[in-house]
Amino acid sequence: MKVGVIGCGAMGAGIAQVAAVAGHEVVIYDNQAEALKKAEANLSATLHKLQEKGKLSNASEVIGRFHFSNSTHSFADCGLVIEAIIENLEIKKQVFREVEQVVSDHCLLASNTSSLSVTSIAAACQKPNRVIGLHFFNPAPLMALVEVVPAVQSDLQLIEEAKTLMKQWSKIPVVTKDTPGFIVNRLARPFYGEAIRIFEEGIADMPTIDWAMTEIGGFRMGPFTLMDYIGHDVNYIVTETVFQSFFYDPRYKPSFSQKRLLEAGWLGRKSGRGFYDYAPDAIVPKPTQDQVLGTEIFERILVMLINEAVEALHLKIATEQDLDLAMTKGVNYPKGLLQWGKEWGWASVLSKLDQLYDQYHEDRYRASILLRQMAKN
Ligand SMILES: NC(=O)c1ccc[n+]([C@@H]2O[C@H](COP(=O)([O-])OP(=O)(O)OC[C@H]3O[C@@H](n4cnc5c(N)ncnc54)[C@H](O)[C@@H]3O)[C@@H](O)[C@H]2O)c1
Repeated sequence: MKVGVIGCGAMGAGIAQVAAVAGHEVVIYDNQAEALKKAEANLSATLHKLQEKGKLSNASEVIGRFHFSNSTHSFADCGLVIEAIIENLEIKKQVFREVEQVVSDHCLLASNTSSLSVTSIAAACQKPNRVIGLHFFNPAPLMALVEVVPAVQSDLQLIEEAKTLMKQWSKIPVVTKDTPGFIVNRLARPFYGEAIRIFEEGIADMPTIDWAMTEIGGFRMGPFTLMDYIGHDVNYIVTETVFQSFFYDPRYKPSFSQKRLLEAGWLGRKSGRGFYDYAPDAIVPKPTQDQVLGTEIFERILVMLINEAVEALHLKIATEQDLDLAMTKGVNYPKGLLQWGKEWGWASVLSKLDQLYDQYHEDRYRASILLRQMAKN
């Protein structure tokens, strides 16, 4: 099967690499000639480097499978086309309409959108039943997780077909309902939001919160380091989109601390300044290594995360297994959140959350009904 990729930025180029390494001929289309040139050079360099490191034996053969094109007409004989262009609903719809005119009736159309509704993208097509979300993580060749997102209109057999194909591409597929943030970008919100809340209230400073989450919690990066790494232009926008898409549920409320960073152009590591200063002569702030305070911070953020996972299970966003796989494989959490809750004890998780609710009387800290039921049983 020939695979088409629309857009060859960070994600499109990565997805094209994965498909070509898996043996497919890959047509790569972008409307910017510069982007095509850059992707061609980068893919070639990356694959040769992988061969030098002994991770690939046939770089030239894989590179020979790429066909770069400045026209959607090159998708005519593709069996699957994956879109990875700018995150804008109207532009994506327009591109899907255009591509549908070119491909055969049997061609599957997928979107790599992180935050838009796959259902509304599908609605732009004459055959919306052939559209599905395939949400890869960055960098696509390294991150094993792919969220498979059937639209309301998708043929049900697409789910199994997509899962099988992703396994052939050495990926770990999880299936999620088409709701904002899918699994990972929904469940992870409190990791950022609650950390910022703790900081804004002056309970602890940023390095102390980061220290608590890495040293006590076992996370690879603390929330502030991670937000700076992702970039506030991405991380803040995801938070705001999720908040708006959930009809302004206070659980997902964005913060002014992060919004102001974005407005200042302090995007994080890539701009040299975010929550932290990355100038070569900047003084690296030290955490207060207080075990009691650290444990308090870690437990507060963790119960918010676990509650989010339990609520997603309650609303059947995904299976228990997929919810946990998504967090360990998509964002490298040390443990699945439901597994963590089980080990910690549902009653302890609930009690901690109810303490927060009693203290704040804010809807943000409401426990999932399923958490209450599991704690009772
Ligand atoms: N970057 C991430 O971490 C990440 C992770 C998962 C999913 N995504 C999603 O993947 C998609 C692409 O993200 P990215 O980070 O690769 O973006 P990017 O800006 O790096 O690349 C987008 C590419 O699409 C091209 N493009 C834009 N409009 C086009 C059009 N109308 N027709 C053809 N090509 C067009 C651009 O020239 C560019 O090369 C978005 O939907 C994003 O939400 C991104």
